[in-house]
Amino acid sequence: MLLKLERISKSYSKDRTILDQLDLDVIAGDRVAIVGPSGSGKTTLLNLIGTLDRPDSGKMYFENQDLSAYPDLQLAAFRNEKIGFVFQMHHLLPQLTLLENILLPTLTNKKLQGNETLARAQKLISRMGLAEVARQKPSELSGGECQRTAVARALINRPGLILADEPTGALDQKSAFNLTDLLVELNREEGVTLIVVTHSMEVAKKMDRIYRLENGKLVESKL
Ligand SMILES: Nc1ncnc2c1ncn2[C@@H]1O[C@H](COP(=O)(O)OP(=O)(O)O)[C@@H](O)[C@H]1O
Ligand SMILES: [Mg+2]
Repeated sequence: MLLKLERISKSYSKDRTILDQLDLDVIAGDRVAIVGPSGSGKTTLLNLIGTLDRPDSGKMYFENQDLSAYPDLQLAAFRNEKIGFVFQMHHLLPQLTLLENILLPTLTNKKLQGNETLARAQKLISRMGLAEVARQKPSELSGGECQRTAVARALINRPGLILADEPTGALDQKSAFNLTDLLVELNREEGVTLIVVTHSMEVAKKMDRIYRLENGKLVESKL
C-alpha cells in the first residue's frame, strides 16, 4: 500500500467537521480522482495527504510508515522527496526561467544536484513539449505551458505520489485535456501515483477510480 488513511478527521472550528473519520487506500501506480462540491473539503484532504497540515485525529501511513510520528523537519524532507504538488494556479516563480523553475525542488536535495538532474529536467521538458520555451519566463508562456512546467517541477524529484488540486481548473478545454493526457501518460511511464481533485467529469473519467467527498467521507462513485 502506498497510502493509507484511517479514520482521519479535521475541522477548523468547533461547529463544523470538514473530514469525518475518512478512510482511503491507494496502491502504488493508482490513478484516483476526487470530486465534490466547492467547500466539501477536497483541498483540506489533499493538504493532509501532502503533509502540509496535520489531522485532528486518525492515522496516515505512507509506504507503511506512520506519518503522525514524524516531527516537522523530517516531514518536510519526506514531502520534498516523495510528493509532487500541482495546484490550480501554477505558482511558478516569475523571475526564473521555465528550466530554473523545474530545477527548484532539487536545490534542497544534495543527492539530486549535478548533471543527472539537469538531464532529467531536460527530458521532462521535451516530454512536456516545452523544449522551444525552456529559457523563457512564465509571463511569456501560455497557461497550458505554465501548467505543464508545474507538472515537470512536481516530477523532478521522482516522487511516488502527485497531488493535483484542480490542475486544469484555469485552462481552456483543449489545454485541460492535453494536461490530463500527459498526467495519465506519466502515470503509465513512470509509475507515479496520481490523486487528482477535479470539477471536470472528463478529467475524472481518465482515472482508475473516482471518489466523491460527501459529508466528510469518501464514497466511491461509479459515474
Ligand atoms: N485554513 C482554514 N481555516 C478555516 N476554514 C477553512 C480553512 N481552509 C478551509 N476552510 C473551510 O473548510 C471548508 C472546506 O474547504 P476546502 O477544503 O478548501 O474545500 P474544497 O477544496 O472542497 O472547495 C470550507 O468551508 C472552507 O471555508
Ligand atoms: Mg479546493
